[in-house]
Amino acid sequence: MSAIAGTHIVVGITGGIAAYKSVDLTRRLRDQGADVRVVVTPAGKAFITPLTLQATSGNPVHDSLLDTSAEAGMGHIELARWADQIVVAPASADFIARLATGLADTLLSTLCLASEAPITIAPAMNHVMWEKTATQRNVESLRTWGVTVLDPRIGPQACGEVGPGRMQEPEEIVQYLAQSRSPGSLDGVQVMVTAGPTWEALDPVRALTNHSSGKMGYAVATAARIAGASVTLISGPTALAPPAGIQVKSVVSAQEMLAAVESNIDSTDILICAAAVADYRPADSMPQKMKKDAPEMTIKLVRNPDILASMAARPSPPFIVGFAAETERTIDNARGKLERKKADLMVANPIEGKDKPFGSDRNALVLVDRNTELDLGQDTKVKLAVNLIDEIAKRFHAKDSAKST
Ligand code: C5P
Repeated sequence: MSAIAGTHIVVGITGGIAAYKSVDLTRRLRDQGADVRVVVTPAGKAFITPLTLQATSGNPVHDSLLDTSAEAGMGHIELARWADQIVVAPASADFIARLATGLADTLLSTLCLASEAPITIAPAMNHVMWEKTATQRNVESLRTWGVTVLDPRIGPQACGEVGPGRMQEPEEIVQYLAQSRSPGSLDGVQVMVTAGPTWEALDPVRALTNHSSGKMGYAVATAARIAGASVTLISGPTALAPPAGIQVKSVVSAQEMLAAVESNIDSTDILICAAAVADYRPADSMPQKMKKDAPEMTIKLVRNPDILASMAARPSPPFIVGFAAETERTIDNARGKLERKKADLMVANPIEGKDKPFGSDRNALVLVDRNTELDLGQDTKVKLAVNLIDEIAKRFHAKDSAKST
């Protein structure tokens, strides 16, 4: 039996020639036993009629936010609660922008805003529109918030041009929706992630810190939650919004980060240390703001605790993943850290020759364990985080089953 049999799926259809494929999508979802309700936007209706969609979905079609008779039947809030998943196919550039901005001016965007169900979008548009910075930024925001984006395929387009913009085929979308209902690779697993920089106070207004933005650690925490884990994020000071569905503990210094990690470690199965922890802190933090009277000043620094190494040295440590940002001999240095700190896996992050390695939305990662290396390539931090969590889940389960045999 399909994993979507008996589930409630809202299919959103926005304006685009690929809307005709959504007739096939609704039919396929019904064939697999799903209960399907279609919500079509005004632009979507220009491409496909509600009558056709009613026939293929077997339910009345919803097309208006401010319709008293529709609200008396199944209104937008009821529909938002009814949905086990929402899939928007095709998702136009306009709809993606609405969703990314949180607009609630059509039934479909309101429904997405009001629902706690997982949202999947299958974009379809002219390739130039897809590649525009504005669209890519909106797509990236949606990914960061946990929306699954089924990337458009490259091929000939209705406009006669060739490029990335073709909606994924209904068959692929159904396959993804069925897979996403299957148990996640980290279902029932407790994951703790450290992220961001630490600030080591010199006095009440000044601190030693670094350029870490926290984006990679936050993306890893979100990917772990999507894979079914229960996630605690221990975050140094960042400008990022707390990710949905994740318990966030905010800390400032390395010592505070260590204390937060220690208080959660006993219930942790996987610890992922993505934080850029300051290696040293001022020996004395001044109680009052320091004056600039002297022509020179020397600050004495003392070593901070190594959070990863001290967790790995515990009697029964969790599965531990570290990050190693390296400017030279990346693999050798990462493997050296893996062995010294006794981690299970190191994520090497080559930053050789890069002008601006920190704060960017992109990264390049290589996984290093005792015997092997796996290059995850260059991509956005959000996509790399999804692949990284897949790899961590495989290795964690392999170690776990080796322990119990
Ligand atoms: O030695 P290095 O700082 O390069 O090691 C990086 C790894 O160790 C990262 O996973 C980082 O989060 C972790 N680390 C730590 N505590 C420290 C320093 C680094 O947990 N004091």
